[in-house]
Amino acid sequence: MRYLILSDIHANWEALSAVLNHVRRKKFEKILFLGDAVGYGASPNAVMDWLRSIGSSGTSIRGNHDRVCSGIDSGEYFNRYALQAARWTADHLEDRNRKALQELPEGPVAIEDQVAICHGAPHDEDAYVFSGNDALLAFQDMPQQVIFFGHTHVPSVFILDQRESIPDIEVRLLAGERQRLSMEEGRRYLINPGSVGQPRDRDPRAAYGIYDSQTRRFYHYRVAYSTSEARRRIVRAGLPPMLGDRLLHGV
Ligand SMILES: [Fe+2]
Repeated sequence: MRYLILSDIHANWEALSAVLNHVRRKKFEKILFLGDAVGYGASPNAVMDWLRSIGSSGTSIRGNHDRVCSGIDSGEYFNRYALQAARWTADHLEDRNRKALQELPEGPVAIEDQVAICHGAPHDEDAYVFSGNDALLAFQDMPQQVIFFGHTHVPSVFILDQRESIPDIEVRLLAGERQRLSMEEGRRYLINPGSVGQPRDRDPRAAYGIYDSQTRRFYHYRVAYSTSEARRRIVRAGLPPMLGDRLLHGV
């Protein structure tokens, strides 16, 4: 099976449409969405209309922003800008899209024998996997060889070498326009495809991945889109301008 893997779209329709355009000629059979469809950006309804349209040809889980924007979490732990954006999103979401957001399942979800997805970490959808130690905990909680996660908005791979007697984690950042990674026997992989709509690795291009579970290869791509248009729409909507400015720099 070939999967298109998307995470952290954050109501950025300009970035999502650029990604969908980019994958048009690539082969994939299912979409895996790792959470945070909305929050921060100015197009929550356009993104949710698309997410609802994929139906059974995909598996989606919720992110922390999806919980807060749909009203099932107060978000009191959010920073000022995130909370302001969540309140704006809650006010602008159409009912059918709010309902769809509320119904998104909590991760982790096993997709097939050797593939699973989660938003933050398997044991806690709100936990961030930034370090080797975070990754080690995550590997202990799910048995699959390959686990896709989001939440940090940083395209990265954590590799656990099971052939060593002392667990050893290798951390790699996925930088550049395209990357290929082959899964090896005796190793396990925690892979973050990066964020479609709000990258934070100083590369403003939208990020996404494709995974082929037959060949056990992961492909990572970056796609340029009009960050200035996404920013303009954020400012025009009355959202904090800082949320638009950060898109220009990928921070
Ligand atoms: Fe996010």
